[in-house]
Amino acid sequence: MWDKETERTLSYVAKFYDSRKVGDVGPLGFRRSSDLEILLMCMKRLVKEGLLGPESTFLDMGCGDGRVNVLMSYLAKASVGVEMDEWTLDEFEPLKKQLEQALEAARMKLPPHNIYLFHGDACDEVLHKRIARDIGLSFRDFDVFYTYLVMHEEFSRLIAKKAKPGAIFMVYGVDKVLPSYNGLRLMKELSPMEGILALYRKDKG
Ligand SMILES: C[S@@+](CC[C@H](N)C(=O)[O-])C[C@H]1O[C@@H](n2cnc3c(N)ncnc32)[C@H](O)[C@@H]1O
Repeated sequence: MWDKETERTLSYVAKFYDSRKVGDVGPLGFRRSSDLEILLMCMKRLVKEGLLGPESTFLDMGCGDGRVNVLMSYLAKASVGVEMDEWTLDEFEPLKKQLEQALEAARMKLPPHNIYLFHGDACDEVLHKRIARDIGLSFRDFDVFYTYLVMHEEFSRLIAKKAKPGAIFMVYGVDKVLPSYNGLRLMKELSPMEGILALYRKDKG
């Protein structure tokens, strides 16, 4: 699945978004974006380890403009995001359109039609029900959860309580001291990936 063509396309997508970051400086700090070129290196390892694949379902809790979702759309069966700021989410479509034009001109594969973004609070159970109704995925169906260190503690509690055993929680933006969460096991053998991504697993049984 991870052939040269995929690598070339994903690297193009990562560069496209990384050159359009918001909030790295100035007052919009909450809008900081994951560095997709770094994330791409992490995802390559996850695919190799068998932790991510074409049957995986992915949820970005606090997805911003959906850039992580676009990258993950190539690597997962469904790439879902929840964002509470509507105006941030509104940037998803125009950015994706620009990306698609650039990809077309470069004769590269467009993102698959498996990206589903929702407006609301990622902890809201009513929203989880709407997601289940709209796309047939309940919170318990997701294999991989992601967040950019925003509400990681609240999200970790929700995942420990409601995700299926074996589900993975990826936290981007960590430093040397990695957080610990009740009910989730730090995957020490892999964390922190590229010095910035910590992985946790909800233990089976
Ligand atoms: C630092 S940005 C990260 C965006 C994107 N995930 C990325 O990594 O590039 C975090 C986003 O989480 C959103 N957010 C914070 N708390 C949230 C919540 N409870 N539910 C949904 N979105 C939330 C913020 O509005 C912000 O857009």
